[in-house]
Amino acid sequence: MSEFAAPPRRGTDSNKWNRYSEDVIPLWVADMDYAADPEIVDAVRKRLEHPVLGYGSATDGLRLKLVEAMQRDHDWRIEPEWLIFLPGVEPGVGMALHAFTTPGQSLLQEVPVYKPLRACAKNWGLTHTAVPQIIHGCRWESDTDSLEKVAREASIHILCNPQNPTGRVYTRAELEARAELCLREDLMLISDEIHCGLTLDGRAHIPIASLSPEIAARSVTLMAASKTWNIAGLKAAFAIVPDATMRDRMMAAKLGMVDSVNILGLAAMEAAYGCMEWRDAARKRIADMRDLLIHDLARKIPHARMIPAEGSFLAWIDFTDCDLPGHAAAFFLEYARVALSCGTEFDEALGTHARLNYGCTAQTLSAALGRMAETVERTKLGGDPPFGAP
Ligand SMILES: Cc1ncc(COP(=O)(O)O)c(C=O)c1O
Repeated sequence: MSEFAAPPRRGTDSNKWNRYSEDVIPLWVADMDYAADPEIVDAVRKRLEHPVLGYGSATDGLRLKLVEAMQRDHDWRIEPEWLIFLPGVEPGVGMALHAFTTPGQSLLQEVPVYKPLRACAKNWGLTHTAVPQIIHGCRWESDTDSLEKVAREASIHILCNPQNPTGRVYTRAELEARAELCLREDLMLISDEIHCGLTLDGRAHIPIASLSPEIAARSVTLMAASKTWNIAGLKAAFAIVPDATMRDRMMAAKLGMVDSVNILGLAAMEAAYGCMEWRDAARKRIADMRDLLIHDLARKIPHARMIPAEGSFLAWIDFTDCDLPGHAAAFFLEYARVALSCGTEFDEALGTHARLNYGCTAQTLSAALGRMAETVERTKLGGDPPFGAP
């Protein structure tokens, strides 16, 4: 397996490593334990050489870099003025809902999904209509019939592609069907594509707004360098909004809520979109880690089920057949001292599931799986949990 520098993060400002006590292995929040590309770190350092750190905004150079990156990576021709810079994708979702919805309207979304995307409807007085994704063979798929039914009543749709937590990467045919649905039912579309740089096994990421001018004209696409290059703490992202009237409405919705972007985040973003070797190595590394997880899980916790992720570093694991007492994540935290994200964050009904972040070292992953397997085994035998039970 390719090695990535993974310096210890315990005792740093890391949310992932600080939330729990030292005996817990943290595999929850979605950042990776790998050091960023030195070129990105150098770009931040270079910016600091100018000692005035006042308010700043994206330069023309950064806009052009992103225009080129969209063409190079996704065969999508965008214009520099379509870009709106943001301190994060999550604020961008809030801003778009503020701009394009009115209370009482209905938001259509597939679940399970990243909690802030699931929870945002109520921030804006919207009804959240969830359509469960379904497993077909060994793939996650959309329940097209349910989507079509629900879409008739909805006003806005949030797509998450690559999907968090299932890791699915939507195919062109699926995206075409989704775009057609939005056009037919007159839905606005917010597409959260924050994980788009980490498609695995040679898969391509297709921005849904790139499919046609018609779908582009009703879309807000949200992206960032943050997940791909592991620089999420620098809080910089961007929206691509092709329609000029929609852009004006987004900018108006931003007032008083979403401020300008951190200048170091912008410097890092500009460098990141040139760091293609690092990105390709990260994809390879993540795919190797995913395969290690699949292999070890099958051997050590054979009753756990997971569909291999097609993108990013998150595994959605179904522990239903392990017959654990209570929610899976709470069980593993208490008895195995491994912190996963609880399934109920992604779908209220799915406490038997958990999300595991495998963007870590092989050693960390193996240690966590070893502890988890041991607690599952002991529970089956009716014995005492072995690790740190209170
Ligand atoms: C799908 C998805 N959207 C948005 C975010 C949050 O992005 P940001 O930190 O840029 O607000 C995350 C972070 O995990 C995510 O997985």
